[in-house]
Amino acid sequence: MNQFDPDKFKQEQKARWNQGARSTWTLWKETQVEDTPAKFFLELVPVRPGVKVLDLACGSGETSLQVAQLISSHLTTDSKDAKIVCVDISDEMLRVLNQRAQERGLSDIVETCCEDAEKVDFGPHYFDMVMSQFGVMFLPHLPEDLANIRKMMRPGSLFCCVIWGEEKDCHIFYAARSVVNPPPPPPGTPVSYGTKDKVMQALRKAEFSDVKAVEFQVVHETKDAEEYITLMSGVNKWLEKSLGEKGSELWQKLVEYCNSNYRTSRGTLQFPNVCVGITAVA
Ligand SMILES: C[S@@+](CC[C@H](N)C(=O)[O-])C[C@H]1O[C@@H](n2cnc3c(N)ncnc32)[C@H](O)[C@@H]1O
Repeated sequence: MNQFDPDKFKQEQKARWNQGARSTWTLWKETQVEDTPAKFFLELVPVRPGVKVLDLACGSGETSLQVAQLISSHLTTDSKDAKIVCVDISDEMLRVLNQRAQERGLSDIVETCCEDAEKVDFGPHYFDMVMSQFGVMFLPHLPEDLANIRKMMRPGSLFCCVIWGEEKDCHIFYAARSVVNPPPPPPGTPVSYGTKDKVMQALRKAEFSDVKAVEFQVVHETKDAEEYITLMSGVNKWLEKSLGEKGSELWQKLVEYCNSNYRTSRGTLQFPNVCVGITAVA
């Protein structure tokens, strides 16, 4: 089996998210029934003059922009230096974010930075909050990265992230995996689900205190099984490859699996998923 190569992994992530920034990621967000992850962050933002927030692996910024909007709605003339710094490895994701920030009149307080989250350095004690939604699971050296992040945070400020629960509780992924086996990743590859203990331990190792977790649900709803397959084939290239042509035997099997397990009375499909929100004090 191949050795895990962090640099290659990050280049693959960049390519994957650049490719999916508009179609797949837009569909992903459209199928999300209620924005419970964003709510988690919005309740934690320390809204005050000059506040500095870092969003790591911000993607196209649906949540960063909600945070920016909240901060902006509290801005007074003497607090123009408030900032939300949005970091992502994918320039395409950031292009979408910048466009949306402009459309919503938030460009003044939104700053984007196309960088590997493992390399960012904004100097000591700069941020009043660091957030990351479905991002930390892509970082190959999490304890070291968190230690680096903590140094950039004002002592006593809050780190918060949202990650996926166990795979069996995240049906948006589990449905496809119940029918098609993904190829095993090289050992050491960061995983997408069930990393609550790993993240909490990494935070403690990085000398954060008061590390806490809460669970909540995020539901995805697709029009039908075909839309589900389009969405998940964009998210997982191995799925697209394994399923082959529309209508193949495996494709049909996945359609049947989805229809028998997730169909609503309206004929749509609903996939319930457990998320974990983690907070820790720098
Ligand atoms: C699942 S998306 C989440 C995006 C956004 N936080 C949200 O929830 O809408 C993961 C994001 O992590 C970014 N990413 C992956 N590895 C990264 C790295 N090493 N540094 C910075 N961003 C990274 C991807 O480009 C992608 O935008």
